[in-house]
Amino acid sequence: KYEAVIFDLDGVITDTARYHYLAWKKLADELGIYFDEVINERLKGVSRLESLEIILERSQKQYSQDEKEYLANKKNEYYKEMIKKITPEDLLPGVEKFIEELKKRGIKTAIASVSKNAFTVVENLKIKDKFDYIVDANEIKRGKPDPEIFLNAAEHLGISPEKCIGIEDSAAGITAIKRAGMFAVGVGNPETVKEADLILKDMTEAGKILELLD
Ligand code: BG6
Ligand code: MG
Repeated sequence: KYEAVIFDLDGVITDTARYHYLAWKKLADELGIYFDEVINERLKGVSRLESLEIILERSQKQYSQDEKEYLANKKNEYYKEMIKKITPEDLLPGVEKFIEELKKRGIKTAIASVSKNAFTVVENLKIKDKFDYIVDANEIKRGKPDPEIFLNAAEHLGISPEKCIGIEDSAAGITAIKRAGMFAVGVGNPETVKEADLILKDMTEAGKILELLD
């Protein structure tokens, strides 16, 4: 009954969730603000400025809008430096095989990422041709947990939402998939993706998604 699979990018297709964390950590350390991987779970799937707001919750200092933009930009410079090194080797284990299996079954595929760097990551991974459609931050007004990005992907694929499966590593992303009326697969931290319909340790378990297609 499912006809399309829509993938989140950061943390699902490649481990850029790690780079986002490391770049924020570097910035937080410089500002003397406490930040760790537990807090980082809340940053997954949310926009750059919203992520910064979460980090600044622990700051004594008040920052102006201009200062916030400066800080967000600084984090992005650290992040851009890290993603320069990405190659096709950085596809997470299980991803490539899973996409091939979907192709064999005639299932449509898309990427839905709110990252303004999604294009660079996709380019460096050399995976553009593997997907029928890619939607990023440039095409949407509202980020996850709003369903807009997943609905945009479904519409462009020409598949109704209830026939789509979304895959996410973030709480905001799982909420977005559910609100779009799609089947939600969560990968990674089980606590973070606990609202998902199916939870996988990582993409090597993607065979469990194929079982839903039979
Ligand atoms: C999401 C990440 O994919 O993109 C978030 O999960 C990140 O951690 C967001 O903040 C925005 O990314 P960028 O590259 O536009 O700062
Ligand atoms: Mg993600």
